Amino acid sequence: MLSTIRAVGNGLRRSLGARPLQTSPALQHDSLFVHRDTPEDNPDIPFEFTSDNLKRVEAILAIYPEGHKRAAMIPLLDLAQRQHGWLPISAMHKVAEIINVPRMRVYEVATFYTMFMRKPTGKYHVQVCTTTPCWLRGSNEVLEAVKKNLGIGVGETSKDGMWTISEVECLGACVNAPMIQINDDYYEDLTLKDTDEILCDLKAGKRPAPGPRSGRFAAEPIGEPTSLKGEPPGPGFGVRSDL
Ligand code: FES
Repeated sequence: MLSTIRAVGNGLRRSLGARPLQTSPALQHDSLFVHRDTPEDNPDIPFEFTSDNLKRVEAILAIYPEGHKRAAMIPLLDLAQRQHGWLPISAMHKVAEIINVPRMRVYEVATFYTMFMRKPTGKYHVQVCTTTPCWLRGSNEVLEAVKKNLGIGVGETSKDGMWTISEVECLGACVNAPMIQINDDYYEDLTLKDTDEILCDLKAGKRPAPGPRSGRFAAEPIGEPTSLKGEPPGPGFGVRSDL
């Protein structure tokens, strides 16, 4: 039925001379995929790792065998971002130089992963997961609560440089959906009240305890266990009558 309606619709558009177009919802992605030189981000601004971080660079490189040092790219980009607060093009060039790869290889990685921030980022980077499990558990409302509390939109940084909001794909804590990540901390099993409390605590200079807000320790069932409550049966259970 639906396909018949679509076929009739497309036929009508063709007869009117209009091209059928596929559309999808506007993406609220906030990463910068195309570099444009700006006063704070251009190749003329030098980037060097601090002496402490140079030791970390050595330690990271030592993990990978000779001939495979390029595998250190993501940890080194992460280190550069932690040092600078975000990832300027000069830091990408420095990483390319250290692992001896063309700069383009680093650009490809840094623009693929949303963990790399290509523009100045707030002290608190609030990443709201809106992938399906979190969405089913109310992540749209959580995102709205974050935007309202902080007074900024997705991909924006507050004027005081304290907050940046990102909308991200699954952060691997689906069992504790909905959840947000703020810097390195996960806040899970969120209600709208929890979301507001966490942000207000951070504004007040406190560090709210990371983890589930539902009272559970990790990802165990809420309430009584529902499976694996007894000794697991051995192989052949339910198939062999003597077991
Ligand atoms: S869907 Fe949100 S953490 Fe996996």
